[in-house]
Amino acid sequence: MRVLSGIQPSGRLHIGNYFGAIRQHLRMQAEHECYYFIADYHALTSNPSPKAVQEYTLSVAMDYMALGLDTEKTVFWRQSDMPEVTELTWLLSCITPMGLLQRCVSYKDKVAQGLSPNHGLFAYPVLQAADILIVKSDLVPVGADQKQHIEVTRDIAMRFNNAYGEVFKIPADYIIESVAVVPGTDGRKMSKSYGNTIEIFEPEKSVKSKVMKIVTDSTPVEAPKDPAKCNVFALLRLFASPDELAEWDRRYRSGGIGYGEAKKRLAELIVEHFKPYRQKRAELEGNPGAVDAMLKRGAERARAVAAPTLLEARKAVGLGDRR
Ligand code: ADP
Ligand code: TRP
Repeated sequence: MRVLSGIQPSGRLHIGNYFGAIRQHLRMQAEHECYYFIADYHALTSNPSPKAVQEYTLSVAMDYMALGLDTEKTVFWRQSDMPEVTELTWLLSCITPMGLLQRCVSYKDKVAQGLSPNHGLFAYPVLQAADILIVKSDLVPVGADQKQHIEVTRDIAMRFNNAYGEVFKIPADYIIESVAVVPGTDGRKMSKSYGNTIEIFEPEKSVKSKVMKIVTDSTPVEAPKDPAKCNVFALLRLFASPDELAEWDRRYRSGGIGYGEAKKRLAELIVEHFKPYRQKRAELEGNPGAVDAMLKRGAERARAVAAPTLLEARKAVGLGDRR
């Protein structure tokens, strides 16, 4: 099956992104024809500095490549290197009812968080639909927060096909079962926008100091503790082996351990987990030119698929083929 997903370069990737999205994207490479891209056009909707756009785009690319993205097999590119997608966005915009976008909760959420409601943010789901439809993907693996955007994509594709003939494939969503929401150091959902993240390639020292600061309750050392209510335990669940986790569970419940001890072990486990990828990450960091060139090659491959779809859509609505 053809699989497509995008990830916004809105900051450095963290452990929540890893368990909630990246790990699954990488696993899907074994069985599917995967198309993954860095959604820098989408990132512009929150008006980052030009420097941040460039820096985070490259760092997301390096993270994916270090963690095991196979650039031979998987098509991996930067969204803005494929301008066809913005042209398709316009064609789709002209058949997208305002009401469909007005119902999108992610727009309402972002405005409620204080983001200025620009037109790009409002039209965000139409660009996302163009991303998905232009490569005729079958399956779109995303976190649960993106489900509505895939529904909007399906709705737009059906409207287009009904009006102009069968141009687009109707994609299915594939909601990534993350091991529940990964908590950040303050106990809220780990998120770039809360400043509570532990980055995947955070320097070892800083992993340790962040883990030691994870918010816990004030149960005394001797007292039994409820693992289900502990942020440290929630993270141990992701990194410890089943045997080790069972042992922590037992020790929490019987009391006599402090959170400090669990935190120390958690920091070790996090560092160990990502250690095998650190060297590759450092090599890529030392050669940003090669990473950029690789993204450009990916864009050529993606455009070879996107250009014929765009042409079909142009012809369907009555535009010429430009040649
Ligand atoms: P952020 O909240 O840091 O800006 P994004 O919204 O860019 O993260 O999320 C990118 C992907 O990572 C999405 O598929 C989302 O579901 C997943 N993700 C982000 N944070 C978490 C988390 N704390 N737990 C599980 N999955 C997450
Ligand atoms: N909106 C997605 C997110 O914030 C990123 C994205 C952009 C995307 N275009 C996409 C995801 C196309 C899947 C398919 O996570």
